[in-house]
Amino acid sequence: MATAFAPKVFKNYINGEWVEARGGKTIENRNPANRNELVGMFPASGAQDVQEAVDAAKSAYKKWRLVPAPKRAEMLFRAAEILVERKEDYARDMTREMGKILSETRGDVQEAIDMTYLMAGEGRRQFGHVAPSELPSKFAMAVRAPIGVAGMITPWNFPMAIPSWKVMPALVCGNTIVLKPAEDTPLSTYNLTQALAEAGLPPGVLNVVFGDGPQAGAPMLDNPDVDLLSFTGSTEVGRIVSQACAPTFKKCHLEMGGKNIIIVMDDANLELAIEGAVWGGFGTTGQRCTAASRVGVHKKVYGEFVEKFVERVKKLKVGDGVDAATEMGPCINEQQLKTVMSYVEIGKSEGAKLAIGGHRLESGALAKGWFHEPTVFVDCNGKMRICQEEIFGPVVAVIPFGTFEEAIEIANGVSYGLSASIYTRDVNKAFRAQRDLETGIVYVNAPTIGAEVHLPFGGTKNTGNGHREAGLAALDFYSEWKTVYFDYSDKLQRAQIDSA
Ligand code: UN1
Repeated sequence: MATAFAPKVFKNYINGEWVEARGGKTIENRNPANRNELVGMFPASGAQDVQEAVDAAKSAYKKWRLVPAPKRAEMLFRAAEILVERKEDYARDMTREMGKILSETRGDVQEAIDMTYLMAGEGRRQFGHVAPSELPSKFAMAVRAPIGVAGMITPWNFPMAIPSWKVMPALVCGNTIVLKPAEDTPLSTYNLTQALAEAGLPPGVLNVVFGDGPQAGAPMLDNPDVDLLSFTGSTEVGRIVSQACAPTFKKCHLEMGGKNIIIVMDDANLELAIEGAVWGGFGTTGQRCTAASRVGVHKKVYGEFVEKFVERVKKLKVGDGVDAATEMGPCINEQQLKTVMSYVEIGKSEGAKLAIGGHRLESGALAKGWFHEPTVFVDCNGKMRICQEEIFGPVVAVIPFGTFEEAIEIANGVSYGLSASIYTRDVNKAFRAQRDLETGIVYVNAPTIGAEVHLPFGGTKNTGNGHREAGLAALDFYSEWKTVYFDYSDKLQRAQIDSA
């Protein structure tokens, strides 16, 4: 059933049942484009709810791990079909709770559909290795084994896609789950859960506990029955997650901040680069970990780029994402808006030139939401805080450079390493850039956003901790290699000794 008919008061999903949080408290889910609109009330869960979810997941794991992977995958396939049917309703729900425009929320649901189909396909693959033994009449292989209970903490900016990046590979590998979605966008995770429940997932295999990080996320971190943990969010919280997982040796995947750059060379197709910079910088109101919050431009084309880029940004239509004419929605909440406003002040005080924007939008209906003007700082220096720190809002810093080498140095001169892009028609420069950019994702003649689900997603340095999600890389996180030797010689054979 689509959520238009669903209750306004939502519940946790534990052991196949929709249940209230033990404490009876709720959190309001409001529309960031119009905070008078209450989207729903969601449970404010605490440690006891998390424990019940972990217990359910632990108990369900005993059977789920033994369900053949192709059978697990059939449930994913059915869930994907349900998502396809409800794509439009779910996209509309997402725009109401998250604010990004409808074409983008349709993309978010589509990304969940793509990931679900991809992982449904992996049910019949999950290939291992077979290798010859060094001894006669001995067989050697390595197979993927599930790990156990997977804890997941997901962000609000891709409220269905990112949970699907974690949930689908975890399920197809045979793990069970406790998922804590962001408190700003619980409805989209509710919708995803609904689709999986209807697809026939057995009770306890997927458990969803709504609430905020400290109350409903933190209790997973030191819980000895949670075997692995996947977190997407800020670098600051990621560090806490990593430390909290260490004493129990949880396998921990962190996907954190970014300070991504588009490099525009003097031989670039300038119109294309401008279009890319607008989409990369202001798509999702700049609230992507892959957002192009820096644009480095070669001095030879700097003047022309800045003039045309600013002209284009000036025309961006900001408003409620359900309106088909809107190109950019609000910030997710008041806190995020305030962060953006504070970075505007920081940029000004650092001596960056404000070329356009820089204010909250409060006229007419916009006063009801958390809107901010698309903002461009020019003549920036790569060392400024607005060029170093993740803002997660509609603010782009343009940095002039003189040579290719200088551009790469600026690009790499940040603590993050998620995504980078170069616009050039010189194939040698493009190849050198993909080799030398210290990021997990590199784009050539495309902006820093637009990752596809069947390729690894993740970053280096303070963006990640070495794991990747999506693609086959996700299977590596959600399974463990088990090496199996079969000796059918009927005698003791000693590796390294009898084979020498
Ligand atoms: C994010 O940047 O927060 O690559 C996730 C993209 C999307 C996912 C982005 N497929 O733009």
